[in-house]
Amino acid sequence: MEFSSICCFSMVREYLYKLLRMDCCFAFGKNGQAIEGDDSEHRVRIFSYSELRRATHDFSGANKIGEGGFGPVFRGVLRDGTPIAVKVLSSTSRQGVREFLTELTAISDIKHENLVTLVGCCAEGSHRILVYNYLENNSLAQTLLGTRCSGIRFDWKTRVKIAVGVARGIAFLHEEIRPPIIHRDIKASNILLDKDLTPKISDFGLARLLPPNATHVSTRVAGTLGYLAPEYAIRGQVTKKSDIYSFGVLLLEIVCGRCNTNTRLPHEDQFLLERTWVHYEQERLDEIIDADLGDDLNVDEACRFLKIGLLCTQDAMARRPNMITVVRMLIGEKKLPVHKITRPAMITDFADLKVSTSGQHRGHETRSSTTRSYSTTEEEPFSSSETPTQTSL
Ligand SMILES: Nc1ncnc2c1ncn2[C@@H]1O[C@H](COP(=O)(O)OP(=O)(O)O)[C@@H](O)[C@H]1O
Ligand SMILES: [Mg+2]
Repeated sequence: MEFSSICCFSMVREYLYKLLRMDCCFAFGKNGQAIEGDDSEHRVRIFSYSELRRATHDFSGANKIGEGGFGPVFRGVLRDGTPIAVKVLSSTSRQGVREFLTELTAISDIKHENLVTLVGCCAEGSHRILVYNYLENNSLAQTLLGTRCSGIRFDWKTRVKIAVGVARGIAFLHEEIRPPIIHRDIKASNILLDKDLTPKISDFGLARLLPPNATHVSTRVAGTLGYLAPEYAIRGQVTKKSDIYSFGVLLLEIVCGRCNTNTRLPHEDQFLLERTWVHYEQERLDEIIDADLGDDLNVDEACRFLKIGLLCTQDAMARRPNMITVVRMLIGEKKLPVHKITRPAMITDFADLKVSTSGQHRGHETRSSTTRSYSTTEEEPFSSSETPTQTSL
C-alpha cells in the first residue's frame, strides 16, 4: 500500500473514531460526509473544531464581531479565502449531535435572497458552532441605527430596498416553507447587509436550538423587548403575527433612522412607536421621518410605510396584516386599509419584565411591566391560521 493511501486511511479512521466518541452518532454519505438521518439529499457541511479555530485565529478577541443571546460571533476566513461568520453557541444551548444536525439540516436547505445562508456547523465533542456567510456591511443596528460611523449612506431608495427585502424574507419564512418558520427575533441587529446593501435576515430557525428551559427573552437586552408583541412578551404566545409586530417596529426605525427605544431623549420621545402614533393622530407623520434624508425622499411613500408600521403593531393580532399583504402594501400593489389603524399596542417599563418559559403561560408574572393596549375596539378572535403556538417554528 502506498504511503499516501495509508495516511488517508488512518485519517479517515481517526475521523470515524472521533465521531463515534460523540454523544450521538449520525449517518454517513457515500464519501464519508455527515448527513442527517438517512436522507442523503440533505447535508450540512461539517467543520472540524480545529478548522474553525484556524479560521478565526483561535477565536481571538480581535476577530470577535459581536455577542448575542446564543453566544459570541467571530469573523473568520476559510483556507480557500471565503470569509465566514462563526457563531459559537454557549453551553446553555448544547444539544445532542443528532438533534443539533437535524435542526440545522432543515435551516441549511432554506435559500432566499433575503436570508443569511448557513454554510455549515461544527458539532465536535461539546462544541456547537454555526458557520454563516460573512456579511460585509454589518447589521442595521450598527449602521443605520448605530453611531453612523460606518460611512454608509442610507438614501431613501436603499431604505425602500431594505424594508421590502426584509418583508419578502419574512413572507418566505411564513408562507413558502413547510412547516412555516416563525422567526421570533426580528430586530435591527438580525438584519445584516451585504456589499450591495441587500438585507439578509439572520438567526431564523434558531429557537429550537435553545434548551427547553430557556426563556425566550431573559438573555436578551431590554432593547429587544421594544420589538416584542405584547402577547409574546407577556404570555410567550408565538404566532406569525408576533413577527409582524416586530417587523412593524423595524419599519418605523428604518424610516425614522432611530432605535425604537432611546431613554436619553425627553420622555415623550423615548418610544418610537408611541411617537409615531401621536404624530399620526396629529397628521404630522412627515415630521418624524429621518432628517438625514433631506430632500432625497418620497414623503408620501415614507408616510405610507409609517402607517404600515402602525398597522403591523396593532394590539388585536387579527388586525395585523399577513406578511404577503405587507409586501404588497409596501410596493404599492395593495391599498392600505387606513380605517384599521387604531392605537398600537405598546409595552412600557421593561425593567422588571418576567416572561414565561416555553410551554407555559404565566402572564401574571409580569410584575412591573405594563401593557398599554389602547385598542378600544373589540378583541378580534384568532383566525384558524393564527392559532397560537409555543413551539412552532
Ligand atoms: N453572518 C454575519 N456576518 C457579519 N456579521 C454578523 C453575522 N452574524 C452576526 N454578525 C454580527 O454579530 C453580532 C452578534 O450576532 P448575534 O449573536 O446574532 O446577536 P444579535 O443578533 O443579538 O446581535 C451581530 O449584531 C452582527 O453585528
Ligand atoms: Mg443575531
